[in-house]
Amino acid sequence: MVQQLIDNHGRPIHYLRLAVTDRCNLRCFYCMPAEGIDYVPKGDLMSYEEMHRLVRLGMEMGINKVRITGGEPFVRKDMIEFLEELGAMSGLSLNLTTNGTLTHHYIDRLEKLGIASVNLSLDTLDRQRFHEITRRDELPQVMETLEALLERNIRVKINAVVMKDKNIDDLVPLALLSEKHPLEMRFIEEMPFNGEGAHYPVLEWNHLRILDHLSNHLPNLEKVPDGPNATAKKFQVQGFKGTIGIIAAFSRTFCGTCDRIRVTPVGQLKTCLYDDGVFNVKNIMRAGATDEQVKTSIADAVQHRAKNGFEAEQNRRFHQPVQESMSTIGG
Ligand code: 5AD
Ligand code: SF4
Repeated sequence: MVQQLIDNHGRPIHYLRLAVTDRCNLRCFYCMPAEGIDYVPKGDLMSYEEMHRLVRLGMEMGINKVRITGGEPFVRKDMIEFLEELGAMSGLSLNLTTNGTLTHHYIDRLEKLGIASVNLSLDTLDRQRFHEITRRDELPQVMETLEALLERNIRVKINAVVMKDKNIDDLVPLALLSEKHPLEMRFIEEMPFNGEGAHYPVLEWNHLRILDHLSNHLPNLEKVPDGPNATAKKFQVQGFKGTIGIIAAFSRTFCGTCDRIRVTPVGQLKTCLYDDGVFNVKNIMRAGATDEQVKTSIADAVQHRAKNGFEAEQNRRFHQPVQESMSTIGG
């Protein structure tokens, strides 16, 4: 019997990121091409029953935090009901990543089901630039979601991908959101997960340069303690209500304390964001695996985990380096 998932490098696994759909109503250029996306046929997605079972089995092996991600979760039918079901599982911290365009319809129910935090993807506060980056004109809906979340005191993190020539002028205005609001504004290094590979030969806007830029404009920026297993390095401007985080998603500085596994919309288990999937959980469930067999397969996979994101990328069997869309992985 597996009591606690621990990987071959001694890292306990407590956190499952579950991507519930590869579909999205936006087309962020760092995530998807503008057109010609092959969505997965609906029958290949994990069903809600299968995902519920996966979470239950995960909890029996020490998972205590789940993040629902995508694609955009709310483009999948009956998503809020699924969240309510997970919300009813005691001892589980349930978190959500969303682009915020549809989320404002569900704020009451998110609050009631006890959502632990909502991560909102937002790369600019400028409507024109939002349109250019996401290829859709939906900034007002996202801002409505943000305001509603803050009003209900739901914990909010904002994720902005830092993109050369696209949103550098937006970094400081975004950081200033942490002045009046108790949110965490996080800046993420751009990764080549856009469906076509790297945009640039080298990453110019890495975590060091992002910090340098922010410190130059926000002189009272100070380091504050990072959470356990956090991917973000946390900062705060003296006197601000919220905090600022920088995530070295491409430089991969945080792998040593990684406590997470991922499952893609089709049920592929990933023990690292940069691997190309180690086995398909949905397929073994559909082939009739017992609870014990599913758990053992997951525990075995975790025993062959790469040490870090560079090793995981080296070990890929198919496309190397990475190039798939983030919407098929779940961030
Ligand atoms: N590089 C970095 N972050 C990305 N995201 C999506 N694509 C990329 C990329 N290529 C982030 C978005 C979203 C989260 C799910 O993943 O900001 O918040
Ligand atoms: Fe959709 Fe998120 Fe990808 Fe943007 S980054 S296209 S919001 S899944």
